[in-house]
Amino acid sequence: GKGNHRHFMMKEIAEQPTVIGDTLQAFMNPLERRIQLPDLPVDLAGLSRLTIVACGTASLAGHVAKYWLESVARLPVELDVASEFRYRQAPMDPDGALMVISQSGETADTLAALRYAKSLGQKVLAVLNVPESTIGRESDVVLHTLAGPEIGVASTKAFTTQLVLLACFAIAVARARGVIDAAREAELSSALTELPARIAEVLNHDVHIREIALKVAEARDVLFLGRGTSYPIALEGALKLKEISYIHAEGYAAGEMKHGPIALIDENVPVIVVAPSDELFDKTFSNLQEVMARGGRVVFLSDADGIRKLGGQAMAAVELPRVDPFVAPILYTIPVQLLAYHAAVAKGTDVDQPRNLAKSVTVE
Ligand code: M6R
Repeated sequence: GKGNHRHFMMKEIAEQPTVIGDTLQAFMNPLERRIQLPDLPVDLAGLSRLTIVACGTASLAGHVAKYWLESVARLPVELDVASEFRYRQAPMDPDGALMVISQSGETADTLAALRYAKSLGQKVLAVLNVPESTIGRESDVVLHTLAGPEIGVASTKAFTTQLVLLACFAIAVARARGVIDAAREAELSSALTELPARIAEVLNHDVHIREIALKVAEARDVLFLGRGTSYPIALEGALKLKEISYIHAEGYAAGEMKHGPIALIDENVPVIVVAPSDELFDKTFSNLQEVMARGGRVVFLSDADGIRKLGGQAMAAVELPRVDPFVAPILYTIPVQLLAYHAAVAKGTDVDQPRNLAKSVTVE
């Protein structure tokens, strides 16, 4: 059941500290703060390229993983949505592997992409929440997210547990390739271990985020901006908002604003800026100032340092705890989920079963 929640979606958002803890426990030795993966069908040290394929929110988890694997593990990663990948006749590197990501393990396009890669001799690693699924059976190894059953059509805890698992995977690849030392591995692992507590802190901002969502719910169009690993979180925020509240929303790489979308900015368009204090903060911040100079109403998601720099110029700000930038995309997912949820409730939509959508897309 929904416990004391009105919707499965809110119950599943609230479960994230627990299920992230469960997923971490499966992939990390807490005492040694060392990542441990099951035996894999590929040699991580010799891997030339990883191709990540998925649909929807799962593909956005892959998008974050691409940034992690490239920067932390120095592994070349290609990423595509399955509906494109399955037909584009991509050549595949003989020393490469395919990774598919899926909550249900039944998504038709993702399965077709898997079969295509297998026909070219690729080994397949599957990040799945339902291992006893068609994709699970056809993969060479299953990496199991322990989100538990997800009922709401909007993916929430499945996404953040995918991210946690993929973060562990990136660290393991980095170690296998000899590009991370034990001290940095312990640092990143600690940042992951702290996440359940940090997420619980963000969940405590629910009432404040709801107030902001009530303003966002009045808009016809909403933009989400971010750079680096915050860019896929901006995309996820926009996807979540449109799928459950039916408000038109777009996510953009913050640096793309001046290449077109800034033309949309006026006082009717809320702009949600995902901006943890990281090495790209100043770049995002100057994009934000360009938006404000054109009358844009900014909702600023940042930490105390970032909010201090902004000094009260935004329509609203949500202060998140300061974390290692490596785990920031996981933490910053929580406020965009809550914004979408409360905007949808304010609009009176069917939050758990939005119109035209199915929980698992088993036909093309
Ligand atoms: O079961 P899957 O993870 O393969 O599903 C992929 C997408 O259909 C799914 O993430 C979809 O985008 C969600 N409704 C987003 O909230």
